Amino acid sequence: MAIEVAPLPLPPSADPSKFAEFGREVKGINPGVLTPEQFKEIEELLYKHSVLLFPNVEVTPEQQYALTKAFDPTSESYGHGNNKTGETKKSILHPDLKTIPRVPQVQLIGNGVVYNHEGLAEAKLKHPSHTTFHKTRVSEEDEAKGVTRFYRWHIDAALYDLSPPKVTSLYGITVPKGNKQICRYDDGTGDELEVPLGTTAFVSGKTMFEILPSELKSLAVRSRVKYAPHPYVWMTPAHAKSTGLGIEDEGLEEPWDQLPSWQESKIKIFPLLWKNPVTGGLHFQVHPCGICELYVDPLPAGASREGALYPDGAHITDLATVRDVLYKMQRPAIAPSLVYPHDWHEKDLVLFHNRGVLHTVVGAFAPDQVRAFHQCNLAASDDPVGPSAEDMAKWA
Ligand SMILES: [Fe+2]
Repeated sequence: MAIEVAPLPLPPSADPSKFAEFGREVKGINPGVLTPEQFKEIEELLYKHSVLLFPNVEVTPEQQYALTKAFDPTSESYGHGNNKTGETKKSILHPDLKTIPRVPQVQLIGNGVVYNHEGLAEAKLKHPSHTTFHKTRVSEEDEAKGVTRFYRWHIDAALYDLSPPKVTSLYGITVPKGNKQICRYDDGTGDELEVPLGTTAFVSGKTMFEILPSELKSLAVRSRVKYAPHPYVWMTPAHAKSTGLGIEDEGLEEPWDQLPSWQESKIKIFPLLWKNPVTGGLHFQVHPCGICELYVDPLPAGASREGALYPDGAHITDLATVRDVLYKMQRPAIAPSLVYPHDWHEKDLVLFHNRGVLHTVVGAFAPDQVRAFHQCNLAASDDPVGPSAEDMAKWA
């Protein structure tokens, strides 16, 4: 049977012109059992379209691991490493992850209590919610009416020592039914977005770059961002912005000398823009919660200085400024018309290009709403590649 490829069904809130290349639904093939030729086809589709949905497929944890690993055959360990009980136990991610015993690279995530699941007698799962992470929260009254928020826009990545996974796979096993919710931005813009209950929301890192005005494109192409050591431990005491796109500047982060032991050589400094290995496109890939410093290269010789930001380059270490600069560049891309909120159905397998999109958990479940998903991503065998000399000449 030939592979059938169709655009993803978009909600009415989405601007179709901004999703022409983003997202594809793939039918007529089981992603758990691909021939090498079929895998090549899927790999190319993934890098071209960022998110692939395989509806109504049976995929075992072993198959999901094998599929995810095929994108980076020498990758081995889970994207955040497997040191869940060691010195990083204070990490903000810790409660969200349960490992499938047979296939420790695959995590069970979701909500409620799951019994006799793939060798786990009982797993208590908690869908993360903005109420424990944002500085402010939706009132309980509004929450009862179905108002919610984006939890945390992110890339799946340890951002310290390990390289960001190339691909994440998410497989929906138990998907609770429920009313749609209203995701409110609460940032003074009045923006809000109708979302399916428990959606995973995606935005394109490519669109994030493309919609910027030229002076911010120039800044983006010249910049690298430094992440804090053990960023998820560092950010644990801090609170996020109401859009879930970064941290409020309250000075609450764990002091660096109180973090688990760390080495300068393992700190990650990444370009803001990551080059797509198939299309050559530039994707704006910054995990705003973990950033601490910004390095800006000077304008190249011959570039126009008119309106240029930091024309002579800069090393910005003031955390509030770093966050402000990044927020200004990233916030436009999470506008309601640019968000794809996936409407999960049981046996959906979603593959996404983790170096090409940002995504977030959304919404809140009642404790008795059971949701079970398998998630897999693998720390990559290399770090992302930034803009080329031609990109620099074109955009700086
Ligand atoms: Fe994620």
